[in-house]
Amino acid sequence: MSRYTKEKILDLDRRHLWHPFTQMKDYEDRDPPVIVAAKGLQLQTIEGQLLYDTISSWWVNLHGHNHPELNEALIEQLHRLDHVNFSGFTHREAVEVVDRLRGFLPQELCRFFYSDNGSTAVEVALKMAFQFWQNQGFKEKTRFIFLENAYHGDTMGAVSVGGIDLFHRLYRPLTFFSYKTRAPYCLRCPDKPAEGFTLDAPLPDCSLTCLEALEGILKEKAVEICAIIVEPRLLAAGGMIVYPKEYLKGLWELARKYDVLVIFDEVATGFGRTGTMFAMEQVGVVPDIVCLAKGLTGGYLPLSLTVATEEIFQAFYDDYLAGKTFFHGHSYTANPLACAVAIANLKLFAKERPLEKGEPVRLHFQRQLRRLFGEEPYVGDIRYLGYVGAIELVADRATQKAFPVEARVGFKIYMESLKEGLVLRPLGDVIYWFLPLCVTVSEIDEILEKSRGVIRRVIHGLGGI
Ligand SMILES: Cc1ncc(COP(=O)(O)O)c(C=O)c1O
Repeated sequence: MSRYTKEKILDLDRRHLWHPFTQMKDYEDRDPPVIVAAKGLQLQTIEGQLLYDTISSWWVNLHGHNHPELNEALIEQLHRLDHVNFSGFTHREAVEVVDRLRGFLPQELCRFFYSDNGSTAVEVALKMAFQFWQNQGFKEKTRFIFLENAYHGDTMGAVSVGGIDLFHRLYRPLTFFSYKTRAPYCLRCPDKPAEGFTLDAPLPDCSLTCLEALEGILKEKAVEICAIIVEPRLLAAGGMIVYPKEYLKGLWELARKYDVLVIFDEVATGFGRTGTMFAMEQVGVVPDIVCLAKGLTGGYLPLSLTVATEEIFQAFYDDYLAGKTFFHGHSYTANPLACAVAIANLKLFAKERPLEKGEPVRLHFQRQLRRLFGEEPYVGDIRYLGYVGAIELVADRATQKAFPVEARVGFKIYMESLKEGLVLRPLGDVIYWFLPLCVTVSEIDEILEKSRGVIRRVIHGLGGI
């Protein structure tokens, strides 16, 4: 019996720990669930309660928790090589990940740089894009363009290209200046407010004025811009905003026209979450750099990759004294344990073909979202893509008026969901499901039915609707 009883864990946690994205005072009079085990889609608390991991443990888990093949790969690797620095050494595990991943990526993306989380993958991409131009003598190309509502991580480079005021505004004095362009947020489009729900963002007679805003910046500033960074098809932390393929295609074309690089941040969208291995496949364009993390190890261990074209790589390849070296690296770069699990993850994709098999499940998920939430008076928008679904809660559906911030509707729903065996962690007043690829039709039904019950209860408790 461990001396870390539930009471002791919670007491030590309250006295000494500081959790991410959490106002610790919110836990003054309530306890966070203590998780002791996980299997498949469920987490188990210390009291034995089961919770559906409806957000895939912050968007990382793909094949379920405690997966026998991923477990086995990790255990086996432990007997061989734990870790070694990756500058000046290489190992089979790092090479095999890349070898297998090449089969899933466009062939132009052929140079792989390891780091250990999504934010660092983005930092690497930003520095690479910047130095690509510097190494070739384009000294004035130093700025980035990012989207309103974009999220690329919490390190300062990533924050500099972050577009969510709540998370990023305070830190502006610490960041480098970047140009913000309008988001393709169809529900709140100033030129053509959405009629009906966004769903998977088709494009009925829309002239994409959001792209005009981007071209405006490029027309005036292209000489000083090194790259545009964008999350393909889904602004995830910005509120699970699904946007039209045409926007991404247009962005890519504009980047080509004005000679700036394109960075796709597939940290959240990669590895099947949007229904294709990578979201960029849905549009058929290849960026200069792509960032991968989260699902790379199936949700087991931190590992990330920044993948570039040969053209980018060649701009750094020279005699040492030419001063073009990419000076970047982390202690745990290409950690062999994480690589071993990444290999097992990629083998599962090749062997079990979860995306092909999962199509009916995804369609069921999307149908159920429309069926269960389409008539609810508090739902301002429904949107989905692959295994990601979201509803945007509003106080008044006719005017799309939001709930007052003080009502903390999303937070209340989160708290209530835990009691019901769900993890509905909100993004403001957007409630979302970020499901793993292994989810079944019956799990979807149970999750969505329960979710609706929780949401209704909280909203009615507010006394408004
Ligand atoms: C699109 C995107 N980029 C980057 C990140 C940062 O990844 P990490 O939390 O692993 O640093 C996230 C995290 O949610 C993300 O959604």
